[in-house]
Amino acid sequence: MERTELDGSVALVTGASSGIGEATAVALADEGASVVLAARSGGELDALADRIEGAGGDALAVPTDVTDGDSVAGLIEAVREAYGRLDVLVNGAGVIDVAPLEAADPDALRAMVEVNLLGLIRVTRRALPLLAAGGGVVNVSSVSGREAAAGYAGYSASKFGVNGFSEALRREVGEDLRVTVVEPGLVDTGLVHGADGEDVAGPGERLESMTPLVPEDVAAAVVYAVTQPRRVAVNEILLRPSGQER
Ligand SMILES: NC(=O)c1ccc[n+]([C@@H]2O[C@H](COP(=O)([O-])OP(=O)(O)OC[C@H]3O[C@@H](n4cnc5c(N)ncnc54)[C@H](OP(=O)(O)O)[C@@H]3O)[C@@H](O)[C@H]2O)c1
Repeated sequence: MERTELDGSVALVTGASSGIGEATAVALADEGASVVLAARSGGELDALADRIEGAGGDALAVPTDVTDGDSVAGLIEAVREAYGRLDVLVNGAGVIDVAPLEAADPDALRAMVEVNLLGLIRVTRRALPLLAAGGGVVNVSSVSGREAAAGYAGYSASKFGVNGFSEALRREVGEDLRVTVVEPGLVDTGLVHGADGEDVAGPGERLESMTPLVPEDVAAAVVYAVTQPRRVAVNEILLRPSGQER
């Protein structure tokens, strides 16, 4: 089957220290891409880079905070220095806090917008000059970027923003780049278990009611999007667990 081969290409994945980003970095490396791994947790990134290189791949760990302009500038500079180009950008970094709006922690509300939306815009804007013609930008949105639910006001606002940004970018870059929004339903990652291992109210409870996706399911969707022949732009992929209603 005709496809775009990733062998020899360069991919940058944010949110690569865990969950969907980690699985996506591994999947892209398995396809032959050199992967640049970005997130705040340097130790996790180093361990992942070792794992990828141990399996015969090529990886570069660059600790990055997507909410910090200087940090993002340093990330893109590191990509330029190491590879001089970029073929695939996967914006996976994200945070969630589920609560009724009145009870919501203002810092958590701000963080969802700062990381999920503004961080994604910041990284994309900085990466654009490096992105090679025919390359791809994959933005990890969510079902919550298409349908809002009670308790998800901040999260949905950020993810609806990601979808709007992605569509505007698609129209702006035209044939040069392919822009994809990936919208997973519930995925079994640290995001839904919370930092302290406690289930995050909402998505955590829902884990009990269905068999969730695993990060590799989402990684496979990303690989599908970026390996299509150049004439094919996969603009949107919505994937839910079979048992998830909304
Ligand atoms: N799990 C789900 O059910 C689900 C469903 C739909 C969409 N999503 C989306 O999928 C994406 C990945 O989430 P996940 O489920 O894989 O959760 P995860 O395992 O918690 O991964 C989140 C990633 O984002 C990184 N991150 C958070 N804040 C950051 C910052 N300021 N700068 C750089 N990196 C940052 C984290 O790394 P550090 O903490 O090391 O920085 C981590 O690598 C998110 O955009 C999320 O909204 C998840």
